[in-house]
Amino acid sequence: MALSTSTFETHLREIAVETERLLSSLLEEQPLAGEVARPLHLLEAMRHAVLNGGKRLRPFLVTASAALFGGQSEAALRVGAALECLHCYSLVHDDLPAMDDDDMRRGLPTVHIAFDEATAILAGDSLLTYAFDIIAAPETALPDRAKTELVLALARAAGLGGMAGGQALDLAAERQRPDEDGIVTLQAMKTGALLRFACEAGAILSGASQTDRRQIRRFGEVIGRAFQIADDLLDLTADAATMGKATGKDAARGKATLASLKGQAWAEAELERLVSEAEALLAPYGARAAMLIEAARFVANRKS
Ligand code: IPE
Ligand code: IPE
Ligand code: MG
Ligand code: MG
Ligand code: MG
Repeated sequence: MALSTSTFETHLREIAVETERLLSSLLEEQPLAGEVARPLHLLEAMRHAVLNGGKRLRPFLVTASAALFGGQSEAALRVGAALECLHCYSLVHDDLPAMDDDDMRRGLPTVHIAFDEATAILAGDSLLTYAFDIIAAPETALPDRAKTELVLALARAAGLGGMAGGQALDLAAERQRPDEDGIVTLQAMKTGALLRFACEAGAILSGASQTDRRQIRRFGEVIGRAFQIADDLLDLTADAATMGKATGKDAARGKATLASLKGQAWAEAELERLVSEAEALLAPYGARAAMLIEAARFVANRKS
Protein backbone atom coordinates (compact mmCIF):
# COMPACT_ATOMS: atom_id res chain seq x y z
CA MET A 1 0.00 0.00 0.00
CA ALA A 2 1.47 3.35 -0.98
CA LEU A 3 0.55 6.28 1.20
CA SER A 4 -0.17 9.52 -0.58
CA THR A 5 2.46 12.19 -0.07
CA SER A 6 -0.14 14.46 1.45
CA THR A 7 -0.92 11.87 4.14
CA PHE A 8 2.74 11.71 4.96
CA GLU A 9 3.18 15.46 5.02
CA THR A 10 0.10 15.91 7.20
CA HIS A 11 1.48 13.37 9.63
CA LEU A 12 4.92 15.02 9.62
CA ARG A 13 3.27 18.35 10.43
CA GLU A 14 1.18 16.82 13.22
CA ILE A 15 4.25 15.36 14.88
CA ALA A 16 6.04 18.70 14.43
CA VAL A 17 3.20 20.54 16.20
CA GLU A 18 3.11 18.05 19.09
CA THR A 19 6.90 18.10 19.38
CA GLU A 20 6.98 21.89 19.44
CA ARG A 21 4.31 22.02 22.14
CA LEU A 22 6.36 19.65 24.26
CA LEU A 23 9.64 21.48 23.58
CA SER A 24 8.05 24.76 24.52
CA SER A 25 6.86 23.37 27.83
CA LEU A 26 10.31 21.86 28.49
CA LEU A 27 11.86 25.29 27.93
CA GLU A 28 9.84 27.28 30.44
CA GLU A 29 11.30 29.64 33.01
CA GLN A 30 10.41 27.59 36.05
CA PRO A 31 13.49 25.58 37.21
CA LEU A 32 13.13 21.81 37.48
CA ALA A 33 13.82 19.82 40.64
CA GLY A 34 17.58 19.89 41.18
CA GLU A 35 18.13 22.99 39.05
CA VAL A 36 19.10 26.17 40.90
CA ALA A 37 17.74 28.78 38.47
CA ARG A 38 17.23 29.21 34.71
CA PRO A 39 19.07 32.29 33.42
CA LEU A 40 16.57 34.06 31.19
CA HIS A 41 19.01 35.20 28.51
CA LEU A 42 20.35 31.67 28.02
CA LEU A 43 16.85 30.21 28.05
CA GLU A 44 15.80 32.70 25.36
CA ALA A 45 18.76 31.66 23.22
CA MET A 46 17.78 28.01 23.64
CA ARG A 47 14.21 28.79 22.66
CA HIS A 48 15.49 30.67 19.63
CA ALA A 49 17.56 27.61 18.66
CA VAL A 50 14.73 25.15 19.11
CA LEU A 51 11.36 26.85 18.52
CA ASN A 52 12.08 28.22 15.09
CA GLY A 53 10.52 25.97 12.49
CA GLY A 54 12.58 23.03 11.33
CA LYS A 55 11.18 19.97 9.67
CA ARG A 56 11.30 17.89 12.87
CA LEU A 57 12.24 14.89 10.79
CA ARG A 58 14.13 13.17 13.61
CA PRO A 59 11.20 13.25 16.07
CA PHE A 60 9.00 12.00 13.23
CA LEU A 61 11.31 9.02 12.67
CA VAL A 62 11.32 8.16 16.38
CA THR A 63 7.51 8.14 16.54
CA ALA A 64 7.08 6.26 13.24
CA SER A 65 9.60 3.61 14.28
CA ALA A 66 7.93 3.30 17.70
CA ALA A 67 4.55 2.93 15.98
CA LEU A 68 5.95 0.11 13.83
CA PHE A 69 7.14 -1.82 16.88
CA GLY A 70 4.12 -1.11 19.11
CA GLY A 71 5.81 1.43 21.40
CA GLN A 72 4.02 3.97 23.53
CA SER A 73 3.51 7.19 21.60
CA GLU A 74 3.92 9.60 24.50
CA ALA A 75 7.33 8.18 25.41
CA ALA A 76 8.29 8.30 21.72
CA LEU A 77 7.37 11.96 21.59
CA ARG A 78 9.61 12.73 24.57
CA VAL A 79 12.53 10.80 23.09
CA GLY A 80 11.92 12.65 19.80
CA ALA A 81 11.98 15.99 21.63
CA ALA A 82 15.22 14.99 23.37
CA LEU A 83 16.79 14.15 20.02
CA GLU A 84 15.56 17.41 18.51
CA CYS A 85 17.29 19.34 21.35
CA LEU A 86 20.51 17.53 20.54
CA HIS A 87 20.07 18.16 16.80
CA CYS A 88 19.43 21.88 17.42
CA TYR A 89 22.57 22.08 19.56
CA SER A 90 24.52 20.58 16.66
CA LEU A 91 23.12 23.26 14.34
CA VAL A 92 23.91 26.13 16.75
CA HIS A 93 27.53 25.01 17.01
CA ASP A 94 27.76 24.15 13.28
CA ASP A 95 26.83 27.75 12.45
CA LEU A 96 29.43 29.34 14.77
CA PRO A 97 32.19 31.49 13.20
CA ALA A 98 34.77 28.84 14.15
CA MET A 99 32.82 26.26 12.16
CA ASP A 100 30.63 27.10 9.13
CA ASP A 101 30.22 30.77 10.06
CA ASP A 102 26.59 31.06 8.98
CA ASP A 103 24.24 33.97 9.70
CA MET A 104 20.91 32.38 8.83
CA ARG A 105 19.21 29.19 9.99
CA ARG A 106 15.58 28.17 9.46
CA GLY A 107 15.00 31.61 7.95
CA LEU A 108 16.11 33.47 11.09
CA PRO A 109 19.41 34.90 12.34
CA THR A 110 21.60 32.15 13.83
CA VAL A 111 21.91 32.10 17.62
CA HIS A 112 25.34 33.78 17.73
CA ILE A 113 23.97 36.60 15.55
CA ALA A 114 20.71 37.05 17.46
CA PHE A 115 22.54 36.78 20.80
CA ASP A 116 26.35 36.46 20.95
CA GLU A 117 28.95 33.77 20.49
CA ALA A 118 29.41 32.85 24.13
CA THR A 119 25.64 32.54 24.57
CA ALA A 120 25.43 30.35 21.45
CA ILE A 121 28.12 28.03 22.81
CA LEU A 122 26.35 27.78 26.17
CA ALA A 123 22.90 27.34 24.58
CA GLY A 124 24.38 24.42 22.62
CA ASP A 125 25.94 22.95 25.77
CA SER A 126 22.65 23.24 27.64
CA LEU A 127 20.63 21.67 24.81
CA LEU A 128 23.04 18.75 24.55
CA THR A 129 22.78 18.09 28.28
CA TYR A 130 19.03 18.58 28.28
CA ALA A 131 18.60 15.80 25.71
CA PHE A 132 19.85 13.24 28.22
CA ASP A 133 17.83 14.87 31.02
CA ILE A 134 14.60 14.50 29.01
CA ILE A 135 15.21 10.80 28.38
CA ALA A 136 16.16 10.02 31.99
CA ALA A 137 13.42 12.16 33.60
CA PRO A 138 10.59 10.38 35.44
CA GLU A 139 8.06 11.93 33.02
CA THR A 140 9.46 9.63 30.32
CA ALA A 141 7.44 6.55 31.13
CA LEU A 142 9.81 3.78 30.12
CA PRO A 143 11.55 0.94 31.98
CA ASP A 144 14.99 1.90 33.33
CA ARG A 145 16.59 -0.65 31.02
CA ALA A 146 15.15 1.09 27.94
CA LYS A 147 16.27 4.48 29.23
CA THR A 148 19.82 3.25 29.79
CA GLU A 149 19.93 1.78 26.30
CA LEU A 150 18.60 5.04 24.82
CA VAL A 151 21.15 7.12 26.72
CA LEU A 152 23.98 4.85 25.62
CA ALA A 153 22.90 4.74 21.97
CA LEU A 154 22.39 8.51 21.86
CA ALA A 155 25.76 9.20 23.50
CA ARG A 156 27.50 6.96 20.95
CA ALA A 157 25.61 8.59 18.07
CA ALA A 158 26.33 12.14 19.20
CA GLY A 159 29.92 12.06 20.43
CA LEU A 160 33.46 11.26 19.37
CA GLY A 161 32.53 8.30 17.19
CA GLY A 162 29.36 9.91 15.84
CA MET A 163 28.13 13.42 15.10
CA ALA A 164 30.86 15.45 16.85
CA GLY A 165 33.59 13.24 15.41
CA GLY A 166 31.99 13.60 11.99
CA GLN A 167 31.97 17.38 12.34
CA ALA A 168 35.71 17.24 13.06
CA LEU A 169 36.28 15.15 9.92
CA ASP A 170 34.02 17.50 7.95
CA LEU A 171 36.11 20.55 8.92
CA ALA A 172 39.30 18.69 8.07
CA ALA A 173 37.77 17.83 4.67
CA GLU A 174 37.99 21.50 3.70
CA ARG A 175 41.76 21.06 3.55
CA GLN A 176 42.37 17.35 3.02
CA ARG A 177 40.08 16.47 0.09
CA PRO A 178 39.02 12.98 1.26
CA ASP A 179 38.21 10.27 -1.29
CA GLU A 180 34.77 8.71 -1.71
CA ASP A 181 35.20 6.30 1.23
CA GLY A 182 36.38 9.14 3.43
CA ILE A 183 33.34 11.24 2.56
CA VAL A 184 30.97 8.31 3.15
CA THR A 185 32.48 7.78 6.61
CA LEU A 186 32.35 11.44 7.62
CA GLN A 187 28.76 11.76 6.43
CA ALA A 188 27.71 8.57 8.21
CA MET A 189 29.04 10.22 11.35
CA LYS A 190 28.07 13.89 11.08
CA THR A 191 24.51 13.34 9.83
CA GLY A 192 23.90 9.61 9.62
CA ALA A 193 24.47 8.77 13.25
CA LEU A 194 21.60 10.91 14.62
CA LEU A 195 19.18 9.75 11.92
CA ARG A 196 20.12 6.15 12.60
CA PHE A 197 19.56 6.77 16.30
CA ALA A 198 16.13 8.27 15.53
CA CYS A 199 15.08 5.03 13.84
CA GLU A 200 16.70 2.73 16.37
CA ALA A 201 15.25 4.68 19.30
CA GLY A 202 11.72 3.69 18.26
CA ALA A 203 12.75 0.03 18.46
CA ILE A 204 14.54 0.46 21.81
CA LEU A 205 11.66 2.24 23.52
CA SER A 206 9.24 -0.38 22.20
CA GLY A 207 11.32 -3.26 23.55
CA ALA A 208 11.63 -4.66 20.00
CA SER A 209 13.70 -7.79 19.28
CA GLN A 210 17.40 -7.56 18.39
CA THR A 211 16.53 -8.61 14.84
CA ASP A 212 14.04 -5.78 14.45
CA ARG A 213 16.48 -3.38 16.04
CA ARG A 214 19.22 -4.37 13.60
CA GLN A 215 16.90 -4.03 10.62
CA ILE A 216 15.67 -0.55 11.56
CA ARG A 217 19.25 0.53 12.31
CA ARG A 218 20.22 -0.42 8.77
CA PHE A 219 17.21 1.49 7.45
CA GLY A 220 18.39 4.49 9.49
CA GLU A 221 21.88 4.21 8.02
CA VAL A 222 20.53 4.17 4.48
CA ILE A 223 18.28 7.19 4.93
CA GLY A 224 21.08 8.98 6.78
CA ARG A 225 23.23 8.59 3.72
CA ALA A 226 20.43 9.80 1.47
CA PHE A 227 19.77 12.74 3.75
CA GLN A 228 23.28 14.18 3.49
CA ILE A 229 23.51 13.59 -0.27
CA ALA A 230 20.24 15.55 -0.61
CA ASP A 231 21.61 18.28 1.68
CA ASP A 232 24.75 18.57 -0.45
CA LEU A 233 22.70 18.63 -3.68
CA LEU A 234 20.44 21.34 -2.25
CA ASP A 235 23.53 23.33 -1.26
CA LEU A 236 24.50 23.21 -4.95
CA THR A 237 21.09 23.82 -6.51
CA ALA A 238 18.64 25.51 -4.14
CA ASP A 239 18.35 29.13 -3.05
CA ALA A 240 18.73 30.52 0.45
CA ALA A 241 15.13 31.75 0.68
CA THR A 242 13.76 28.24 0.09
CA MET A 243 16.28 26.59 2.39
CA GLY A 244 16.17 29.17 5.18
CA LYS A 245 19.97 28.95 5.28
CA ALA A 246 22.81 30.04 3.01
CA THR A 247 23.53 27.83 0.00
CA GLY A 248 26.54 27.46 -2.27
CA LYS A 249 28.68 27.33 0.85
CA ASP A 250 30.22 23.89 0.37
CA ALA A 251 31.76 24.83 -3.00
CA ALA A 252 32.82 28.25 -1.68
CA ARG A 253 34.71 26.61 1.18
CA GLY A 254 36.12 23.85 -1.03
CA LYS A 255 34.24 21.24 1.01
CA ALA A 256 34.34 17.78 -0.53
CA THR A 257 30.87 16.24 -0.87
CA LEU A 258 29.74 13.22 -2.86
CA ALA A 259 27.70 15.50 -5.11
CA SER A 260 30.79 17.61 -5.91
CA LEU A 261 33.13 14.62 -6.26
CA LYS A 262 30.91 12.43 -8.42
CA GLY A 263 28.53 14.91 -9.99
CA GLN A 264 24.90 15.84 -9.70
CA ALA A 265 23.59 13.09 -12.00
CA TRP A 266 25.40 10.44 -9.97
CA ALA A 267 24.00 11.93 -6.74
CA GLU A 268 20.44 11.86 -8.09
CA ALA A 269 20.80 8.23 -9.20
CA GLU A 270 22.34 7.32 -5.85
CA LEU A 271 19.37 8.85 -4.03
CA GLU A 272 17.01 6.63 -6.04
CA ARG A 273 19.13 3.59 -5.31
CA LEU A 274 19.14 4.36 -1.59
CA VAL A 275 15.36 4.76 -1.50
CA SER A 276 14.98 1.30 -3.09
CA GLU A 277 17.40 -0.12 -0.54
CA ALA A 278 15.42 1.48 2.28
CA GLU A 279 12.18 0.02 0.90
CA ALA A 280 13.71 -3.44 0.63
CA LEU A 281 14.87 -3.32 4.26
CA LEU A 282 11.32 -2.65 5.46
CA ALA A 283 9.55 -4.96 3.00
CA PRO A 284 9.23 -7.72 5.68
CA TYR A 285 6.98 -5.39 7.71
CA GLY A 286 4.49 -4.85 4.87
CA ALA A 287 1.96 -2.03 5.05
CA ARG A 288 2.82 -1.24 8.68
CA ALA A 289 6.07 0.33 7.45
CA ALA A 290 4.38 2.58 4.88
CA MET A 291 4.98 5.76 6.89
CA LEU A 292 8.70 5.06 7.24
CA ILE A 293 9.01 4.28 3.56
CA GLU A 294 7.37 7.60 2.76
CA ALA A 295 9.86 9.22 5.11
CA ALA A 296 12.71 7.68 3.10
CA ARG A 297 11.26 9.13 -0.11
CA PHE A 298 10.82 12.50 1.56
CA VAL A 299 14.43 12.52 2.73
CA ALA A 300 15.70 11.84 -0.78
CA ASN A 301 13.35 14.17 -2.64
CA ARG A 302 13.05 17.02 -0.16
CA LYS A 303 13.21 20.54 -1.50
CA SER A 304 14.24 22.29 1.72
C1 IPE B 1 20.22 20.15 8.63
O1 IPE B 1 19.29 19.23 9.13
C2 IPE B 1 21.58 19.80 9.05
C3 IPE B 1 22.10 18.54 8.54
C4 IPE B 1 22.24 17.51 9.32
C5 IPE B 1 22.54 18.45 7.16
P1 IPE B 1 17.75 19.37 8.73
O2 IPE B 1 17.64 19.58 7.24
O3 IPE B 1 16.99 18.24 9.33
O4 IPE B 1 17.37 20.73 9.43
P2 IPE B 1 16.02 21.22 10.09
O5 IPE B 1 16.00 20.57 11.43
O6 IPE B 1 14.85 20.84 9.24
O7 IPE B 1 16.22 22.71 10.17
C1 IPE C 1 25.72 19.89 9.52
O1 IPE C 1 26.08 19.68 8.20
C2 IPE C 1 25.67 18.63 10.27
C3 IPE C 1 25.49 18.88 11.69
C4 IPE C 1 25.03 19.97 12.23
C5 IPE C 1 25.85 17.81 12.58
P1 IPE C 1 26.05 20.97 7.28
O2 IPE C 1 27.02 21.99 7.75
O3 IPE C 1 26.10 20.54 5.86
O4 IPE C 1 24.57 21.48 7.61
P2 IPE C 1 23.92 22.83 7.07
O5 IPE C 1 23.99 22.74 5.57
O6 IPE C 1 24.71 23.95 7.67
O7 IPE C 1 22.51 22.73 7.57
MG1 MG D 1 28.88 21.98 8.72
MG1 MG E 1 26.62 24.11 8.12
MG1 MG F 1 24.92 21.45 4.27
